[in-house]
Amino acid sequence: MATILAFDVYGTLIDTHGVVDELALRLAVQERSDLAPEFSRRWRDKQLEYSFRRGLMGAYVDFARCTREALEFTDRALQTRFSETDKEHLMGVYARLPAFPEAAAALERLVAAGMSCVAFSNGGREAVEGLLEQAGIRECFDDVVSVDEVKRFKPDPAVYAHLRYRLESEPGDTWLISSNAFDVIGARHAGLHAAWVRRSPDAPFDPWGIDPDLTVPDLDALAERLA
Ligand code: 2OP
Repeated sequence: MATILAFDVYGTLIDTHGVVDELALRLAVQERSDLAPEFSRRWRDKQLEYSFRRGLMGAYVDFARCTREALEFTDRALQTRFSETDKEHLMGVYARLPAFPEAAAALERLVAAGMSCVAFSNGGREAVEGLLEQAGIRECFDDVVSVDEVKRFKPDPAVYAHLRYRLESEPGDTWLISSNAFDVIGARHAGLHAAWVRRSPDAPFDPWGIDPDLTVPDLDALAERLA
């Protein structure tokens, strides 16, 4: 069976900090543009925290709701006082975030080498389809698998089992590709292979003794290793 590469979406293919310019523009009226990178970081961290907490509570909601509520929280925490129109606009920007610059060429190379690529995300199917489409990389993927199909969030073992069920794959043939260490550990814990895309050279990996099979700085390097 062909090797299947299941790509995490937010943070791995798609740059969640692609919202910084829009944030800076909106913060400029308060003369707080400098806050934009921190706002973006805290928004993303809170979004993931909400998915983890909802997973533990057994209170699943669409990932977009975690994103919206995390935006609301970050706005309160940093006292940025965005209007409802600003928040709706920022959510719109989040739905059109850009791909990382090397993503398209790396994916094309992997596909040309005979790999089957799928997108595998906490995001709802429609949201992920839309993101990949507007980023111009949808055609590189054979399928989109969303956790929404099992109503659990990463790193619940059920979502990795569901991925294998959807792909009809054996653990040994299935790789998760993710920049999110918690996702890599979740996949390895569930018996899959996993590559960690260490987008920041300073990023530490969690010292759990569950390590990635492969660590690469970006998707170019991944294609170099696997294609
Ligand atoms: C994703 O599933 C975890 O945000 C990450 O796309």
